[in-house]
Amino acid sequence: ASDTRLYQSNDKSPLQIFVRAKKKINDIYGEIEEYVHETTTFINGKPVYIASSIPDLLHRFLLIGKTALHAEAEIVDKAERELFESYVYKVAAIREVLQRDHMKVAFFGRTSNGKSSVINAMLREKILPSGIGHTTNCFCQVEGNDGGEAYLMTEGSAEKLNVVNIKQLANALCQEKLCESSLVRIFWPRERCSLLRDDVVFVDSPGVDVSANLDDWIDNHCLNADVFVLVLNAESTMTRAEKQFFHTVSQKLSKPNIFILNNRWDASANEPECQESVKSQHTERCIDFLTKELKVSNEKEAAERVFFVSARETLQARIEEAKGNPPHMGAIAEGFQIRYFEFQDFERKFEECISQSAVKTKFQQHSSRGKSVSGDMRSMLDNIYERITIFRNLKQDQKNLLTDRIQGTETQMMQVTRDMKQKIHTMVEEVEEKVSKALNE
Ligand code: GTP
Ligand code: MG
Repeated sequence: ASDTRLYQSNDKSPLQIFVRAKKKINDIYGEIEEYVHETTTFINGKPVYIASSIPDLLHRFLLIGKTALHAEAEIVDKAERELFESYVYKVAAIREVLQRDHMKVAFFGRTSNGKSSVINAMLREKILPSGIGHTTNCFCQVEGNDGGEAYLMTEGSAEKLNVVNIKQLANALCQEKLCESSLVRIFWPRERCSLLRDDVVFVDSPGVDVSANLDDWIDNHCLNADVFVLVLNAESTMTRAEKQFFHTVSQKLSKPNIFILNNRWDASANEPECQESVKSQHTERCIDFLTKELKVSNEKEAAERVFFVSARETLQARIEEAKGNPPHMGAIAEGFQIRYFEFQDFERKFEECISQSAVKTKFQQHSSRGKSVSGDMRSMLDNIYERITIFRNLKQDQKNLLTDRIQGTETQMMQVTRDMKQKIHTMVEEVEEKVSKALNE
């Protein structure tokens, strides 16, 4: 326990909201499972025989109570037994889902805007292939793996392809003849990145401008995402394809959480004179898009969802940091510190948003199901208990009745004995009297 406390107090990440909630709900479900097992074993292992229903029991008692109570039906009937057993499977299924639950973030935007670079910057390592031209050609999901190894799996195959380095990963992704909406899962050692350790799963996508199957994309990869990140190119402006994609997303999902990154902001350092005006123009458009067009957030919320960053620079800075160098060694242009802070600010807000949203969407439903399962079991056990109590009372009554009868017999016997004694006494007296009379005569 002290280790856990240390770990928690050292880790101030908002992702811990999810991590702790997940642990708690898993523990609670562990207890529910134990409770269900225990109860089922108890019920199945103890066939206690009693009348199946209270009216039946009373009826029997009234009819044959004077002799004996032969109750044949079970305390717990077949339907109840089956219901209890169904809880065992239900709870086990929920536990399995809970153990696999994670927070999912999906990245979208036009080709080459830097989606893969943003993910790499967040993972602090160049994991996903990035480059000029059309690089990502299918959906790539990066998730934490408990073992120390890195591998990938393609859709519909259980084969684990080992990944030694990024070049090999890029080659593996190219060689696989994959459909653009298929999914490649990349398992990366958890200990190499705190976001993976805390159960964040990243989904990278091909550019929204290269596909005609956006609907399939949304149906296959987006419906369970907790957060969406739209990666824009700050050097140009939001395109119709990007807007259309998010219009469809917000039609299919109620109020999706969307962050907008104006990436490649390092380029603005070359034109410092128009930097501010470009920034306010982009900000206004992004806020309008979230509030007036998509209607997914209010002005205040939307202002907290728009950032100006440089993914490439952030990644370079983090790679330098990992080597023990100061982060600014990764700087691309003037103004590195502001962009670096802005990226960290994005990460913080993103972490808060994703963990809160995931707790709600993933655990709320499970906790109310858990509540209803334990509530149902409780009332069933209450009913069984009530039945047992009535049975016990009836048995007691029967016992009392027998006792009364025995006591009655005893009294009767005593009475008879007393009468007999009296009679004999009188008889003896009479005989004595007769005998003495005869003697006198
Ligand atoms: P696709 O996978 O082809 O859809 O592209 P993508 O959106 O994943 O872009 P990717 O991360 O591959 O980046 C494209 C190119 O832009 C790469 O050469 C990156 O190094 C470069 N790049 C990405 N982010 C930045 C940035 O913030 N600044 C600069 N200067 N270059 C960047
Ligand atoms: Mg890419």
